[in-house]
Amino acid sequence: MPSKVTLTTLYKMKEKGEKITALTAYDYPFARIVDEAGIHLILIGDSLGMVIQGGNSTLPVTMDEMLYHTRIVAAGAKTAMIVGDMPFMSYQTDIREAVNNAGRFLKEADAQAVKLEGGAAVCDTITAISEAGIPVQAHIGLTPQSVHQMGGFKVQRDEDRLMEDALNVESAGAFSVVLEGIPVGISEKITAALKIPTIGIGAGPHCDGQILVFHDMLGINPGHVPKFVKQYATVGEETKRGLAKYIQEVQSGEFPGKEHCY
Ligand code: KIV
Repeated sequence: MPSKVTLTTLYKMKEKGEKITALTAYDYPFARIVDEAGIHLILIGDSLGMVIQGGNSTLPVTMDEMLYHTRIVAAGAKTAMIVGDMPFMSYQTDIREAVNNAGRFLKEADAQAVKLEGGAAVCDTITAISEAGIPVQAHIGLTPQSVHQMGGFKVQRDEDRLMEDALNVESAGAFSVVLEGIPVGISEKITAALKIPTIGIGAGPHCDGQILVFHDMLGINPGHVPKFVKQYATVGEETKRGLAKYIQEVQSGEFPGKEHCY
C-alpha cells in the first residue's frame, strides 16, 4: 500500500515536476473512492455549503459542520493528505481563536493540515498557526468567502497584488497555496516564483497541481458548469437512470425477485 502523503511528498513532487492531484470530498464513501483512486490531497472544502447544503455561498458554514465532514472523510482516506478548510469567521477576527480552531481540525477531525483564504492580510495568522505545528495551505485569487467584497465570483487579474500575496503567504509559512480564478500567465509566474507547490482551480495548466470540486467534476449536481470545470462523468444522470429502473421494477412487481427473498 502506498504510504501517507505528507508535506515532504508534495515538496518532492514540485521539485521533480510531478503534478499533484487534489479533489474535494465531504463524506466517508466518496473519500474512500477518491483515496483508492490515488488522489494525493483531499480538501474538505467549505464549498460543502453550496454542493452539499445547497446554499448560494460558503459564508454560513460553521466550524462544527466542517469538523463533522472532515472527520468522516478522514475515516475513509488511508493515503491522501487530509486538509480541513477553515470556515468564514473562524480565523478572521482573532489570532488566538484562529490557532485554536485550526488545532480542532487536527485534534477532533484527524486532518493533517488546514486551509484558509486571503493573502497579505492573513499572514500573521498563517505564521501563528504554522508555529503551533499545524501546516497551513493558503488560498489566493478568487476567494469565495470574500464574494461580497469582490462583487461576485470573479476572476482576479491584478498581477502585482496576486504576486505580492503569493510571496507573502510563502514567507509567512504556508506549505502550499491554492490559486483560484487567476489568468494562466499570472499563475505561471507565481508558480515559477514560489518554492511551495501551487494548486490551481481555474488557474491554468502551469500550477504544480490541480483541484476541482468533486460534485462539479463528476456531474452530480444539475445546473451551470463553470468554464474551469471539466466533467469527467455524469453521475447524476446515471443515478437517475438507476432510480427510474427501481421505480419501474417495484411498480411492475419485478423487484424483489426470488433471489432477493428469504
Ligand atoms: O471550498 C473549496 O472546495 C475550495 C476549493 C475549491 C479550492 O476552496
